[in-house]
Amino acid sequence: MRRDSPLYTICFATLVCGICSVLVSSSAVGLRERQRANQILDRQLKVLSVAGLVGPGERLSRTEIESRFRERIQPKVVELASGAYDESLDPDTFDQRRAARDPATSRPAPENPARVMRLPHRALVFLVMENNTVAQIVLPVEGMGLWSTLYGFLALDKDTTTIRGLTFYEHAETPGLGGEVDNPRWKTLWEGRKAFDTEWKPRIEVIKGQAGPPDSDPHHVDGLSGATLTSRGVSHLLQFWLGDDGFGPYLKRFREEGA
Ligand SMILES: Cc1cc2nc3c(=O)[nH]c(=O)nc-3n(C[C@H](O)[C@H](O)[C@H](O)COP(=O)(O)O)c2cc1C
Repeated sequence: MRRDSPLYTICFATLVCGICSVLVSSSAVGLRERQRANQILDRQLKVLSVAGLVGPGERLSRTEIESRFRERIQPKVVELASGAYDESLDPDTFDQRRAARDPATSRPAPENPARVMRLPHRALVFLVMENNTVAQIVLPVEGMGLWSTLYGFLALDKDTTTIRGLTFYEHAETPGLGGEVDNPRWKTLWEGRKAFDTEWKPRIEVIKGQAGPPDSDPHHVDGLSGATLTSRGVSHLLQFWLGDDGFGPYLKRFREEGA
């Protein structure tokens, strides 16, 4: 076949495409396990950091993250409607996001401003242990911002209302606007605020403008400037997951019965 013929060009291009697609698909399949392991490690690091068990700027190796997580965190699967622990499921392999997608393990969520579409029957909670007692509870939260679903963790003190931290591990809000949810300065504003009012109604809210100090203005957090819609999304998602369709029954049970 002549090298400058159209047939040669087509055959050559097809061969190159074939080789490339085999390379791309085999690396995608081959790296899947590694990606999953890295995702789990990243979640563990986020749980540790929202609970204040990783200092700002502290760099931990893979084994340090895993061992600190094992020592200090007890993951549990909770049945959302009753708030009871479900010991029949292994929290290390339970995938809440997958459970929320599967009709057999979830239900359509009632209409809600956080725009959560499906509610898993069961969810994960992470108990932060100190001297063999629960010091904090870390809850996974999610809901719509402006452009994307924000996924994160809320750490509550064992009194179930004092916020110890809030962090997001996945979103696609605009860097510099909604993306400021990741700003360490903004994240420090959450500590010491109260999630609930005295009647245990979820009250925490990101307001437009500046909030007062936690002692005098416990239910408000500064808004993100130029990102009112993301700020509102954060309020909605927290109120949803602290409410009756989210972890409300679990937190009530925790207050009444302990861990
Ligand atoms: C390119 C672009 C990206 C934006 N990204 C966000 C965002 O991530 N989050 C958000 O709340 N608003 C974002 N906005 C602004 C919103 O459209 C809206 O104007 C804003 O939330 C209103 O907030 P303000 O009342 O504080 O100005 C973006 C606007 C533009 C033009």
